[in-house]
Amino acid sequence: MKLWGGRFQKPTDPVFEEFGRSLESDQRLVVHDLETCLAHIKMLKEQSVLPEVEAAKLTDALETMLSELESGSPVEGDDEDIHSWVERILKERVGELASSIRIGRSRNDLVVTDFRLYVMAACREIQALLRELQATLVRRAEESKSSCLPGYTHLQRAQPVLLAHHLLAHFWSLERDHRRFGQCFDEADCCILGAGALAGSSWPVDPSISAKELGFSRILQNSLDGVSDRDFALQFLFCCATCATHLSRMAQELVLWSSSEFGFVRFDDAWSTGSSLMPQKKNPDPAELIRGKTGLFLGNLVELLTTVKALPLAYNRDLQQDKPPVFRSKEELSACLQVMNGTMATLEFKTQVMQAAAQDKGLLITDLADVLVRQGLPFSEAHHLAGRTVSDPDNLSGEEKSKVDSAWSELTLEKALKSRAHPGAAGPDSVKRQLESAREILSL
Ligand code: ARG
Repeated sequence: MKLWGGRFQKPTDPVFEEFGRSLESDQRLVVHDLETCLAHIKMLKEQSVLPEVEAAKLTDALETMLSELESGSPVEGDDEDIHSWVERILKERVGELASSIRIGRSRNDLVVTDFRLYVMAACREIQALLRELQATLVRRAEESKSSCLPGYTHLQRAQPVLLAHHLLAHFWSLERDHRRFGQCFDEADCCILGAGALAGSSWPVDPSISAKELGFSRILQNSLDGVSDRDFALQFLFCCATCATHLSRMAQELVLWSSSEFGFVRFDDAWSTGSSLMPQKKNPDPAELIRGKTGLFLGNLVELLTTVKALPLAYNRDLQQDKPPVFRSKEELSACLQVMNGTMATLEFKTQVMQAAAQDKGLLITDLADVLVRQGLPFSEAHHLAGRTVSDPDNLSGEEKSKVDSAWSELTLEKALKSRAHPGAAGPDSVKRQLESAREILSL
């Protein structure tokens, strides 16, 4: 069914008709569309635009559609979009009265309202998945007790860190993602119903009634901006891209750590794959797929930025292209978070291999320099001397040698770790406090 046509004397060309259809994609909005219709009808009734009997008929029919959808009935048909589908089904149930849902409203403000509701729900869903992965990281960090491993800069061994500290580093990047999705929720949380096609309506529309019904906490300030603004969708795509980037860093680390060269972790059989040719292989595919999908999230953000760039006010059909990248990002990110959670929850940490790597004396050279400074050497001299113990140990003078030997006698891996005790540091006392903060955030 078409929601327009009075001025047209020819049918739409079937090629163009198919080109313009968005039902397959925007049927994801169906529940939000029905809720928005219900809120709109309530507002029209309260503003005495729709008689009570008519409003009740429409409300009953829409509520029946909602419960049918909940029990699994499909959205099917050759309708132009989800709004046309809703009106067609409604017409089958209540006749011409169905078209009253269009009074004081346009698809332009309707679609944005639906889309905002979708983004708000998506933010909450992703926040819940983030919390699950964060809880797994906390659990794995706690299980790792006092295990340590080399920390790296430039992928070169640098200083020792507790495994728990390393795992919690990822917890905090996910915590920022969680916060960002909360900010995105707030950005989307604005009811623009009433903006109409672009200029509002001659009917006594009251957006605050619809807002209250739909759970929005703000209403539009400007109808032109209301139908044109897609900042909330851009922000959602940015949040997804940033979160996916964090996951890709975790993924890359797991790929490296599972290599024979590192040998720090072993993937669970249920979360890895084999080779069709090489029987000995066990491949870290979940991590590689997460890493490989990251480009998709960046692409989706750039796609929508490009769609809205230089677009004149107000609604342009280009804006129909706003939804597919958001749907893709939401669906793929939910999957990536679940896969990372399953992988992380079942990963075997080879703590003995990590511990052996952490015995590398090079990891304590910074501490050696610090001891020399405490013994009275200027920092630059201490740094230089400690460096020469690595590159040129045979050519130290007798005095230098005895200074270095006495400094080494004060040093062990445990001491080096324990001494890193200030907030945020990699040592056991600090990590214990960090775990407490993390547990508090998760209400564990
Ligand atoms: N399917 C359209 C979209 O997603 C709905 C709005 C159509 N508005 C219009 N003026 N053709 O943008």
